[in-house]
Amino acid sequence: MKSIRTPLCDLFDIQVPILQAGMGGVAYGRLAAAVSNAGGLGCIAAIDGTPETVEEEIRRFRQLSNKPLCVDIGFPRRAPTGLADVEVVDLPGPIKQLHKELKALGVEVKPSHDQAMSIEDAKLKLDIALSYGAEAIACALGTPKWVVDTCHAKGTKVIGLVGRSRHVRSVMEAGADAVVVQGTEGGGHTGDVGLLALLAETLSFTTIPVIAAGGIVNGAQIAAVLTQGAQGVWLGTRFLASEESSAEDNFKAAVVEAGHDATVRTPIFDGLHIRSLRNRFIDAWDGHENEMLGYPRQRLVTSPVRWAASRANLKDYMNMPAGQGVGLVNERESAAKILAQLVDETVAALESARERIRIGG
Ligand SMILES: Cc1cc2nc3c(=O)[nH]c(=O)nc-3n(C[C@H](O)[C@H](O)[C@H](O)COP(=O)(O)O)c2cc1C
Repeated sequence: MKSIRTPLCDLFDIQVPILQAGMGGVAYGRLAAAVSNAGGLGCIAAIDGTPETVEEEIRRFRQLSNKPLCVDIGFPRRAPTGLADVEVVDLPGPIKQLHKELKALGVEVKPSHDQAMSIEDAKLKLDIALSYGAEAIACALGTPKWVVDTCHAKGTKVIGLVGRSRHVRSVMEAGADAVVVQGTEGGGHTGDVGLLALLAETLSFTTIPVIAAGGIVNGAQIAAVLTQGAQGVWLGTRFLASEESSAEDNFKAAVVEAGHDATVRTPIFDGLHIRSLRNRFIDAWDGHENEMLGYPRQRLVTSPVRWAASRANLKDYMNMPAGQGVGLVNERESAAKILAQLVDETVAALESARERIRIGG
């Protein structure tokens, strides 16, 4: 069986240059271990959990795999810890409406403590990940130099995640080992520049390995970005419906059913743009856009609804981030099968390109 390698494989000591993205609510020890065991780099999402749950997931990974582990942590610059810090005088109309609708369905909406907002907890999570010898740390929401220095002192590699080429420069200045550039096609927080253009611009100046993300779900796409100059790919949506994914059952079903136009990029979840599957939560804001509070207040007022819906497995009221490649995810499969299929498809696409494209002259 043929495989693919790039220098990124040596950097992270992995067999194939396919990295599974950190995904809150989806990517924990089980999925990350399955991906790493299959030769890629598995990543545990550590933004939304508490330090205790993050430690539990890292332990789970270490029980299931002796391969390299990546942990995705957010280091937000603006980090209020609760509503009291940001003065929300009155809840926006759509939130009151969504509370009412959930109550009618018998779901109680309780106040929530948002881990993603705590820089102190982020530091604790980093300490925990390093104490378990995490081989890589992915930095979402900025790549501070002190994080890179702390990781390098322990021999841990650092990956910066960005959606704009100008942010690549700060990732390089901080001393990170690699950068993920995510095009607007991607699920979750995402910018407004398409991957093809973002990648081209980034490759024109960067001196560190570039990893492509956003909308990539098959091997032909992997072949395309590797040919363009990326050294690897960072895939989220492709693993959403995998057997090892922790996504709610109804979320997985929605992913399998969704067409390519099922996603929308909206600031309603937290004030920053997130690409998600369209649902009632999003539609409730139609005509009420002027009531949005902006980041981080919007996040604080929407969290209790999203989390109550998530616990109740109610797909109409949760946040279901997904990329534009979702229309090609049509089955619930194991992560190992997905990895093997991606590698086969990439090899086939590269070989077919060699046969189809003639260099004249
Ligand atoms: C369900 C979901 C949750 C996500 N959560 C996070 C997260 O917690 N941290 C993060 O850095 N990125 C997160 N992302 C973005 C991914 O890291 C990645 O950039 C994105 O999935 C790539 O695009 P794709 O989904 O089209 O493959 C999330 C994406 C999805 C689909």
